[in-house]
Amino acid sequence: MISLFDRRSSPMAEAEDIDRDGLLGHHSTRANANQDSGGGGKSITLGQLFKRVGDAHSGGGVTENDGYASPEHHVLELDEFAAEGGAGDHLASRPVPFVLAFTDLSYSVKKNRKMSLFRTNGLAVDPAAGLPPMEAISGTKTLLNSISGEAREGEIFAVLGASGSGKSTLIDALANRIVRESLQGSITLNGEKLEGRLLKVISAYVMQDDLLYPMLTVEETLMFSAEFRLPRSLSASKKKSRVQALIDQLGLRSAAKTIIGDEIHRGVSGGERRRVSIGIDIIHDPIILFLDEPTSGLDSTSAFMVVKVLQRIAHSGSIVIMSVHQPSYRILCLLDRLLFLSRGQTVYSGPPDGIPRFFADFGHPIPDNENPTEFALDLIRESEGTPDGAKPLVDFNKSRQNTQLALTTAEESSVSLKDAISASISRGKLVSGATDRTTSASSVQKHANPFWIEMAVLTKRSFTNTKRMPELFAIRLGAVLVTGFILATIFWRLDNSPKGVQERLGFFAIAMSTMFYTCADALPVFLQERNIFMRETAYNAYRRSSYVLSHAIVGFPPLILLSIAFSLTTFFAVGLAGGTQGFLFFVLIVLASFWAGSGFVTFLSGVVTHVMLGYTVVVAILAYFLLFSGFFITRDRIHDYWIWFHYMSLVKYPYEAVMQNEFDDSHKCFARGVQMFDNTPLGGLPDVMKLNVLKSMSNSLGANITGTTCITTGTDILKQQSITQLDKWECLWVTVAWGFLFRFLFYIALLLGSRNKRR
Ligand SMILES: Nc1ncnc2c1ncn2[C@@H]1O[C@H](COP(=O)(O)OP(=O)(O)OP(=O)(O)O)[C@@H](O)[C@H]1O
Ligand SMILES: [Mg+2]
Repeated sequence: MISLFDRRSSPMAEAEDIDRDGLLGHHSTRANANQDSGGGGKSITLGQLFKRVGDAHSGGGVTENDGYASPEHHVLELDEFAAEGGAGDHLASRPVPFVLAFTDLSYSVKKNRKMSLFRTNGLAVDPAAGLPPMEAISGTKTLLNSISGEAREGEIFAVLGASGSGKSTLIDALANRIVRESLQGSITLNGEKLEGRLLKVISAYVMQDDLLYPMLTVEETLMFSAEFRLPRSLSASKKKSRVQALIDQLGLRSAAKTIIGDEIHRGVSGGERRRVSIGIDIIHDPIILFLDEPTSGLDSTSAFMVVKVLQRIAHSGSIVIMSVHQPSYRILCLLDRLLFLSRGQTVYSGPPDGIPRFFADFGHPIPDNENPTEFALDLIRESEGTPDGAKPLVDFNKSRQNTQLALTTAEESSVSLKDAISASISRGKLVSGATDRTTSASSVQKHANPFWIEMAVLTKRSFTNTKRMPELFAIRLGAVLVTGFILATIFWRLDNSPKGVQERLGFFAIAMSTMFYTCADALPVFLQERNIFMRETAYNAYRRSSYVLSHAIVGFPPLILLSIAFSLTTFFAVGLAGGTQGFLFFVLIVLASFWAGSGFVTFLSGVVTHVMLGYTVVVAILAYFLLFSGFFITRDRIHDYWIWFHYMSLVKYPYEAVMQNEFDDSHKCFARGVQMFDNTPLGGLPDVMKLNVLKSMSNSLGANITGTTCITTGTDILKQQSITQLDKWECLWVTVAWGFLFRFLFYIALLLGSRNKRR
């Protein structure tokens, strides 16, 4: 056992063995564990928490197994577990280390066709890459070329290399973020093939970008993550103490109450934000942690602190696999295994202290006082510039690996994956899946919480975040009020003459499409959130359906206020008909339009992932909706081949609804007697002449038409406009239904679109 864990990275790490209490206290050194038991309070451990829930094994406490203060494991607990019939006898003798082994990983992508047009012959491409001619001709690019290695529990496995060497690609490959068919080679955990579903549950992938809600504090951010990922059986207070422990572990105590911040709002520093990002992914204490360049963009102290945190996580019984650009000497001391890549090939793999020897044997000894990684990377870069590329190094490494393999018999983990995971869970790992005593690889739960809890937590989080950005709502309200004001002053007190009718039609068409246009401002907000959503659903933090629902719930209350504001500013000023009932219906239909409009924009944000493109599409489609709404051209005049778009037009239904709200009255008159000549060439005649014409018309028609006879009623206007199919309530329901439909389509789009794997 000792041989597995005594590689305590470096003398330096030994020397400044910063306290490993907090959540890792469970796995901490004996000295610290003793402190913990005296200290009480904050250093409650996951394992202890878990035990108190009552579904872990009985007994516990700190035990001693041998003279060595192993930083992580409590062997006796495993013994107990095994003795209780859990994992089998062979577990009793040693802790269960996880070994993630990958063999001959290769991954290539097809080259762009266009590029091959400009190629005179296949060999001309990238001679330094040392690609075999066949490959160059066949138009593929090898991003990973037969990479093998092994990452172990308790260690940090670091992938190094120049920019473009394939670090991210390798991490993606290991983290199952490349579709399996495109990837050659095998990845095993404790000798068993790693299934994607299982990996998702036991691992975490920390993205390079920090995608966080800007207006939540550090503590809240971690707390919400805990709500999503920790099992329901864990009480709220225990989740809280887990978060507090994590805050201490990440060194975020002083920033706990600070908001994350964004470009406008000042928040935590870059290094702190990075650690929060890591924190939300490790809240459930994953067994394998993948990180792509967790230190880039940070100053050396922040970077060191991040890696130090990662080391602590590794020592708590996890495999940490990360890529790193150019580690400082201090960071190098924290790493346990290195893999140097050059154009997708392994140049060196082994512990950091093996580097000097390796390069000395290769004939390029590292000068004193030089950072070994810098030297190595420089040498690799230099040799990449030569015609042979880094081939000599690659070959040298291969031959060395072969001889080493012959010398040392590989320490394969003899424990089955299922047992290893069970044992790990019993030690307090992997809180997410650990809800029952018989947890095994196959029964690990997909989601930590049921649907309604997810929804409640999502709603709360979103509400907290938006509540702190009142300016966003203020801008929307302002936009609606200004539009309302302009419309109210332009269409001030319309009369019931034929001209007034025309103006009313114009008002309705503009007002109803404005509802949709003002929804478009939500597009960037949705897009920003979408990234967070992608990240969180990538590891099953919650169901997509609960996100869609909570999204709709949080978005709805502001729409009510906006509709009332718009209706109040316009309805009475324009002089619309219907009294109180008419007004209430107007509010409802405006609300329904907002609902449908925001659903439409939400759906688009799920399909179109680029802001500018999103705006273009929204504006264009809304313009078509208006065009086909029945205002510019009535339904009976639209050609058959376009009529489908008329029915698809979102603006049609609210437009027809308000039209009916206004005109659906067969007693109300909108053109009397001589007014029928308005807008015709006869309109310019003096009134006396018009009355004469009316008289002669009456004679020939055999009906008495005088100056006050009603020519056009409200119902007539609706007929003229071809608004005859649905009544106003039906229009309202159809509009509401559109809102639901788009949210359903949004869900489908998320379902199909969020497979963020490479092909
Ligand atoms: N779809 C693709 N088609 C062609 N080349 C690709 C594709 N995806 C990645 N590459 C290339 O693969 C190489 C490795 O990319 P990768 O992102 O893994 O590099 P990296 O080592 O992570 O670099 P950095 O340090 O800059 O992040 C790069 O040269 C990149 O241009
Ligand atoms: Mg990268």
